[in-house]
Amino acid sequence: MDLKLLDAVATREERDAVAGFAGGGRDRLLPALHAVNDRVGWISQGALNLICETLHVPPADAYGVATFYSLFALEERPERVVHVCTDLACRLKGSDTVCDVLTEHVGAAGKARGGVTWLRSPCLGVCERAPAALTFQAGDPATAELL
Ligand code: FES
Repeated sequence: MDLKLLDAVATREERDAVAGFAGGGRDRLLPALHAVNDRVGWISQGALNLICETLHVPPADAYGVATFYSLFALEERPERVVHVCTDLACRLKGSDTVCDVLTEHVGAAGKARGGVTWLRSPCLGVCERAPAALTFQAGDPATAELL
């Protein structure tokens, strides 16, 4: 397959995250995207290039998968992110108040302050805990906690 990649180059940290996927195929795409997003906090063009090259996956395919999942980021953001579910069950249980409090203390959704940002999220799959939020800390290992 002839892959058309961009010129962007992966960082050392991104290369470390992808190193274990050498010899893999398309079935390893989601785990490889997770590995980079978990380690660095987002997936750069260089990392996406490296994943495509390593797994022999067309960039459009990888981009489509990476943009489908709201917990993946293709633009740089802080290593600590709070995902606040604003879907129906959580909205009915007060997620707007959670968003208001975060806006007051951190800033508008997507703005970073003190190495933290927060985002509105579609359903996190824990509607029984509404209003639900997920804190994510990128790193090695990454940590996530449902609130
Ligand atoms: S609607 Fe919020 S977790 Fe499902």
